[in-house]
Amino acid sequence: MTSSEWLAYFQSNVQKPQDMPWDLHAMLTPEQRKVLVPSLQAFQRGEGSEGTNLTMNAKRYGEATGDVDYANCIALFIREEQKHAAFLALYLRDLGEPCLTSTWTDRVFRRLRKGVPLEPSLTVLLTAEIMAMTYYPAVSRAVECPLLKRICARIEADESKHLQFQSEWIGKLRREYSAPRRWLWKMGHRFLYAGTATVVWFSYGAAFRAGGHSFGSYWKACWRAFLPCEARMTA
Ligand SMILES: [Fe+2]
Ligand SMILES: [Fe+2]
Repeated sequence: MTSSEWLAYFQSNVQKPQDMPWDLHAMLTPEQRKVLVPSLQAFQRGEGSEGTNLTMNAKRYGEATGDVDYANCIALFIREEQKHAAFLALYLRDLGEPCLTSTWTDRVFRRLRKGVPLEPSLTVLLTAEIMAMTYYPAVSRAVECPLLKRICARIEADESKHLQFQSEWIGKLRREYSAPRRWLWKMGHRFLYAGTATVVWFSYGAAFRAGGHSFGSYWKACWRAFLPCEARMTA
């Protein structure tokens, strides 16, 4: 898709009713709360990026290529991510749980993206976004709470488009690279993703187990989400 087609998508997605049935309130058993709150807090923090580096990179890309729509797409993309963060923050507030100002995984991801050009920055960002495709369905399966299920479904639907958007763009940017560099980037990304999936399991495995995963099924689900993105990045 072109940037103007993506812009039309993001604009139409913004206009859709985003209202959640907040009057249903958070309904978790004490056990579910114990198992899920730490990962909900971490994902809430991860979703809430200001996107300063990405915004700057997108503007530079627009200036260099004349593609003005791309920066507008990125602005709407960041707004969607902040909306995800807001959904989770409101849910945590309803539970009476605080939001975190910082987590070490979030610090690592921000550090990796700081000051790097557009393509590696998108690659690191996409790595974190792909994890959402395993996390939110697992949370949804782990609970009966209709409000949390709605939040998970909404975020998952948005994220599946984000994966398409980011991986298409990474593919476009990598076309400029030599074949050995493209191969190196592909392997590096697999390595980063495998490391991320391992760290997420060791940090928040309880949430995935509550959603019916063993480590084996979690690992398979993670790669099922990754491989279509990789195919787009190398197309
Ligand atoms: Fe998100
Ligand atoms: Fe996303």
